[in-house]
Amino acid sequence: MSTPTLDRQPAKVTTLALRRKKAAGERISMLTAYDYPTALALDQAGIDSILVGDSLGMVVLGYANTLPVTMEEMLHHCRAVARGATRPLLIGDMPFLSYQVSPEEAVRNAGRFLQQGGMDAVKVEGGRERIPAIEAILRAGIPLMGHIGLTPQSVHQLGGFRAQGRTAQAAVGLLRDAVALEEAGCFAIVLESIPQELGEEISRRLTIPTIGIGAGAGCDGQVLVTHDLLGLFERFTPRFVKQYADLHGEMRRAFAAYKLDVEAGQFPAAEHSLAMDEDEWRSARKAMRSEAAA
Ligand code: KIV
Repeated sequence: MSTPTLDRQPAKVTTLALRRKKAAGERISMLTAYDYPTALALDQAGIDSILVGDSLGMVVLGYANTLPVTMEEMLHHCRAVARGATRPLLIGDMPFLSYQVSPEEAVRNAGRFLQQGGMDAVKVEGGRERIPAIEAILRAGIPLMGHIGLTPQSVHQLGGFRAQGRTAQAAVGLLRDAVALEEAGCFAIVLESIPQELGEEISRRLTIPTIGIGAGAGCDGQVLVTHDLLGLFERFTPRFVKQYADLHGEMRRAFAAYKLDVEAGQFPAAEHSLAMDEDEWRSARKAMRSEAAA
């Protein structure tokens, strides 16, 4: 199967470009990345935007949820992604407690994503209750994407990783949140794990793009955790994920084949080894012999 690549260097994707895509009825592609090689591949595949998600904590660092992820961990991985991807819009996910304590702290931490992490924008979870922090970040000139529905940093408050907005009251509440985020000045909103009818309705009501993850095909764009798409995260796969590869299986097969080769003495073969010039080797052995005899 051939991989789609781009021949020439296209223009950097901006928040404005995403809004224009929505206006033109073109769908937006977004995926997560946490390292240089993945960012490079996403850029070469023409993905519009890369989210350095705090899902990092679960799929790369092995935490049970996203709550332990720190600013330092996020910035470390943001820098790696920024070195690999130049064209996609780069969005850094603000980790738990980096924006909830006060608007001042939120601005300072959001600024670090741009200044020290090489990101173009940030994302925060939450609806109307988050408006003071969101407005402060936007006033500082930092583009911001909202995130409502299933907000993993509130996993304990939500009673687990559960779909949201399934009752009439909850659906109306989420629409109000979405409108408040648009009015505050967010350039886009992630809608996670909500019914497709609600995803479509919110997308129709807003002029800014909605990026769905488990929110149906009516959203203006889609995002997935790349490790889910690649079959690299073994612990669980949400129902809304389409798995495009089985890289965990590939890795296990490759590691097991390597182990067998090493144990059988079949790796390294001659083509993986460096040969010495014959005369040099003869002289070296002679020198070694005389050193041993001395
Ligand atoms: O952390 C993350 O990867 C996210 C996406 C699931 C939207 O927030």
